Amino acid sequence: MQQVQAIVARRQGEPVELVTINVPDPGPGEAVVAVQACGVCHTDLHYREGGINDEFPFLLGHEAAGVVEAVGPDVTSVAPGDFVVLNWRAVCGQCRACERGEPQYCFATHNATQRMTLADGPDAGAELSPALGIGAFAEKTLVAAGQCTKVDPAARPAAVGLLGCGVMAGLGAAINTGGVTRGKSVAVIGCGGVGVAAIAGSALAGAHTIIAVDIDAKKLEKAKALGATHTVDSSQTDPVAAIQELTGGFGADVVIEAVGRPETYRQAFYARDLAGTVVLVGVPTPDMTIPDIPLIDVFGRGGSLKSSWYGDCLPSRDFPMLVDLYRQGRLDLDAFVTEEIALRDVEAAFAKMHDGNVLRSVVVL
Ligand SMILES: NC(=O)c1ccc[n+]([C@@H]2O[C@H](COP(=O)([O-])OP(=O)(O)OC[C@H]3O[C@@H](n4cnc5c(N)ncnc54)[C@H](O)[C@@H]3O)[C@@H](O)[C@H]2O)c1
Ligand SMILES: [Zn+2]
Ligand SMILES: [Zn+2]
Repeated sequence: MQQVQAIVARRQGEPVELVTINVPDPGPGEAVVAVQACGVCHTDLHYREGGINDEFPFLLGHEAAGVVEAVGPDVTSVAPGDFVVLNWRAVCGQCRACERGEPQYCFATHNATQRMTLADGPDAGAELSPALGIGAFAEKTLVAAGQCTKVDPAARPAAVGLLGCGVMAGLGAAINTGGVTRGKSVAVIGCGGVGVAAIAGSALAGAHTIIAVDIDAKKLEKAKALGATHTVDSSQTDPVAAIQELTGGFGADVVIEAVGRPETYRQAFYARDLAGTVVLVGVPTPDMTIPDIPLIDVFGRGGSLKSSWYGDCLPSRDFPMLVDLYRQGRLDLDAFVTEEIALRDVEAAFAKMHDGNVLRSVVVL
């Protein structure tokens, strides 16, 4: 067991705190990772606000890269010294999805068995709930060995750590879920970290027309820099009509919704061409319902309506490949890192999420 500094959300809605936590030595199937970088994702804020569940205290942070420090006695997939990106899809190999050869949908993913705990204060010894089973706003964290994906150690941790969540979700929404290929037309509604990654993924896949839609003009600039061929400010223009106009009057082959709201889902639904695909990667809240869409429109327009969890990624397949593309200069992951900050700045980074200038603040240790 060792003690390290970490960012914890103790109670719902209260500012996060920098505290000392206990990290157990790795047991069977586990690894301790010295974290080098961890991005600040909206989901961390959702945890703090009690929007995910009420299993406080949470150890936040989950978009991370670092170096394996120690592994449990039976672990062979990684070794001390390996540079890894942490994932929240350590596949089991045995569930019905894994057995039919679709581990990207694994229904029984692994996390560490032992729990990290609070070291000080009145609640010393309380078990921490790590965000998405990772908890990487910490100098060191305990994870399942399968959550460690080895990648090229020459890569910049702050950039490639982002593949651990939001950027992978966006890239994969386009490439894996949406099936974007050379020559297709794509529209992306919502150009935060996830939407811009969907744009970068569409460009990487060779899409012909890539339309970025947002209500914030600053976000559209970033989208352009990462591959959007056209932009639509939907606070000024009807996005459905604009997307149709930019695609010969028809609509886009693939429309990716990266906001997670009924009104933008409706726009995505009507902005796609006949037989097109809608991908929902934005996460709605439990109270939201799909607005009035006539069933005949669902039937009559054909195509498919899909949802994308973590970009339908398989970390062992996708992370090393995307890091290689980054190292070759074909995928600009650096563009997602708006600022590098310290652990103690996480609360301030939450406040900056809404000002439109930040794609990702990344804690660097
Ligand atoms: N499916 C997954 O596995 C997965 C993983 C990570 C994040 N997400 C989700 O993806 C969504 C986007 O995440 P993010 O980090 O990019 O968030 P973000 O807040 O950085 O970006 C959201 C963007 O949507 C824009 N927007 C808001 N309302 C809009 C509207 N009505 N029309 C058009 N644009 C609008 C905002 O201006 C902003 O640019 C969130 O719902 C997040 O929870 C999903
Ligand atoms: Zn499985
Ligand atoms: Zn995330």
